[in-house]
Amino acid sequence: MRKILIKKNPDDLDVSCTIICDDSRQALRDLKGQVDLIVTSPPYADARRRHYDSVHPDDFAQWFLTFHEPFYEALRPTGSLVINIKDRVVNGVRHRYVWHMIEALCENGWHAIDDYLWHKTNPMPGYWPTRLRDGWEYCFHLAKDKKPFFNPEAVKVPIGDWAETRLSNLGENDLSRHNSVNASGFGRDVSRWVGKETVLPSNVITSAVVGKNKQHPAVFPVDLPLFFIKLLSPEHGLIVDPFGGSGSTAVAALSENRNCILIDNNEQYCQVAVERVSKETGAKESQDEAGAWGQIRYKQNGSIYQPRLLESGAIATEVENHQ
Ligand SMILES: C[S@@+](CC[C@H](N)C(=O)[O-])C[C@H]1O[C@@H](n2cnc3c(N)ncnc32)[C@H](O)[C@@H]1O
Repeated sequence: MRKILIKKNPDDLDVSCTIICDDSRQALRDLKGQVDLIVTSPPYADARRRHYDSVHPDDFAQWFLTFHEPFYEALRPTGSLVINIKDRVVNGVRHRYVWHMIEALCENGWHAIDDYLWHKTNPMPGYWPTRLRDGWEYCFHLAKDKKPFFNPEAVKVPIGDWAETRLSNLGENDLSRHNSVNASGFGRDVSRWVGKETVLPSNVITSAVVGKNKQHPAVFPVDLPLFFIKLLSPEHGLIVDPFGGSGSTAVAALSENRNCILIDNNEQYCQVAVERVSKETGAKESQDEAGAWGQIRYKQNGSIYQPRLLESGAIATEVENHQ
């Protein structure tokens, strides 16, 4: 057992992260109706076989459906599910297991709210006879309701330099709604942008692929869950990553003042996540599930770890560390 003591500061932010080593289909049973957002990246079909179980592309949609009910039941009525995934090439052509998975989920009651893309600024170099470098992955936004919790204000971006020149020279067509000349039904009123400093981003999220230094073979960038956590969950809400891996989602959740539960069925990755979350967020491990402070418990089965986020200035002292 490892034991870490901290001095409790009454100003500590009241958010925590629980890391559960278990099959997420089991672990989620205890969370019925409590989760604001599930944001995750499942094992891709037939990938990383050396590291964890993988599923043949032909069987993937059926396999993923075994998570449908636990996910659906765990979410609040306004909750969302974001799945980062990519299809793969089988015998020279794209296998559409990802599309089949989304169709199967929608047949089971999920609403496909939008398809986001993760644009990778540093895709893997290489040469393929019929394809170019793979520079993006899907992030599917699904929800129980057609109007899930949605806070676009939280992800707005600076309007950009174009606005200064464009908006200082407004023409006649800019001062009222100007309909498209090809009668497409689209129109714009540029004058409404005057005085605005931020705008909505597009549904393409640009972020570099993470290097190989996180002790896990398939780490996604923290920016990815971060974007969806801001957009799709309330402050102090509960975020779950049911394929938690190295803990990227927890790093994002704690930094945005959300509670987080990471679930991974691989003991080693749970340990990696505990260490990473503590290191990258300043969280300290607390005593038990009831929230008492002081020690981390380590159990072989259904292991539960609870790093706690400390507000800066909180005093955290490691006084003991033993096996
Ligand atoms: C693609 S990785 C996730 C990586 C993570 N997004 C990160 O940034 O580190 C998928 C993870 O799912 C875990 N996993 C696979 N099947 C699982 C299951 N049934 N329950 C819980 N975790 C599972 C694997 O051990 C693996 O760590």
